[in-house]
Amino acid sequence: MMLKGKKIVLGITGSIAAYKAAYLLRLFIKKGAEVQVVITPAGKEFITPVTLSALSGKPVVSEFFTANDGTWHSHVDLGLWADAMVIAPATASTIGKMAHGVADNMLITCYLSSKAPVFIAPAMDLDMFAHPSTQQNLETLRSYGNYIIEPGIGELASHLEGKGRMEEPERIIEYLEHYFGRRQSLREKKIVITAGPTYEKIDPVRFIGNYSSGKMGFALAEACAENGAEVTLITGPVALKTHFSSIHRIDVESAEEMYEAALKSFPTADAAIMCAAVADYSPEAPSDVKIKRTADDMLLRLKPNKDIAAALGQMKRDDQILVGFALETNDAVNNALAKMNKKNLDFIVLNSLEDEGAGFRYDTNKVTIIEKNGCSTEYDSKPKSEVADDIVELLSSYMQ
Ligand code: C5P
Repeated sequence: MMLKGKKIVLGITGSIAAYKAAYLLRLFIKKGAEVQVVITPAGKEFITPVTLSALSGKPVVSEFFTANDGTWHSHVDLGLWADAMVIAPATASTIGKMAHGVADNMLITCYLSSKAPVFIAPAMDLDMFAHPSTQQNLETLRSYGNYIIEPGIGELASHLEGKGRMEEPERIIEYLEHYFGRRQSLREKKIVITAGPTYEKIDPVRFIGNYSSGKMGFALAEACAENGAEVTLITGPVALKTHFSSIHRIDVESAEEMYEAALKSFPTADAAIMCAAVADYSPEAPSDVKIKRTADDMLLRLKPNKDIAAALGQMKRDDQILVGFALETNDAVNNALAKMNKKNLDFIVLNSLEDEGAGFRYDTNKVTIIEKNGCSTEYDSKPKSEVADDIVELLSSYMQ
């Protein structure tokens, strides 16, 4: 349904996975989309334009001019015609050219002219995919707002095993359906999100920290941004990047700095999601100089930090929504309920470390969401990006 009537430019490049592009094209047509294939010269070595034009019902575009009559194909018109551009398979070479604007074929010129969202499904050998130049180029494309449909892990055409297999056509379709199915449910809403760990200074070279990677908070920021929100992402020290211009990132280090930033941002926000793993205590008197080792035991006196979620809970207006997280190792539901009430949250997302593949550092998470009306929903283990979608869906329902 979501793809019915959508105009898709399908870019096909010179990879053995080009044979899967025919099936992808077929699926697009079955879904009611209109597809214009643009193929690179190398792509034509792998699949014939006749197959593709028969499936799409349109002549395949490859060159700037049709050889026999000199007709010029306008890459600008094509780029502007598209509701989405899908490059599948995308070779390392095409990815590199897209990242650097090397417009030496029809596909890259179309890409540069297009205002439509661009989805890139890389396909290559595992070492090519892992090479820093490929990774750097993909990072560049992400920073342009393009979507990378990550390749799968498995047997490759080279018979080697690894990451580099183009994502299956069915999954690519699902990815686009998901994109077009988004309801922009948070359009014009302002959301504050805290993410990552905090570092509490002991002396100029040491700190107390925790294992939080920030992945869940960043996934939430992206899910909110994709649904149209303006996000203020207040993050502790993490090794993650943000890819959306509608995410305003504030980097902090300590719980105190996070507290200051959160309190400043909250009054103008419609909602806040407290996803950071904030240190509960910090050294009472951090040393200005590096503490020297002695033969004696060392005592570090800690003082409690301010609870950011509780502080926002106290200042929360009726028109604002506050969401918290709870990471529990025992008596999880009761502890989460108590936290929700104490901090005046609208709902709380419970990760239990009793569940495998949940919590710190993992790319997946398994959560239970408990709402203040007593409603409790258990979700399956899934990638953090999908957990973020579930949370955003519930948050949106609170904000209508
Ligand atoms: O009390 P506990 O730390 O388990 O509560 C977890 C929730 O409270 C999370 O949403 C976390 O981001 C938030 N929190 C906070 N400031 C603190 C401690 C926790 O915002 N100092």
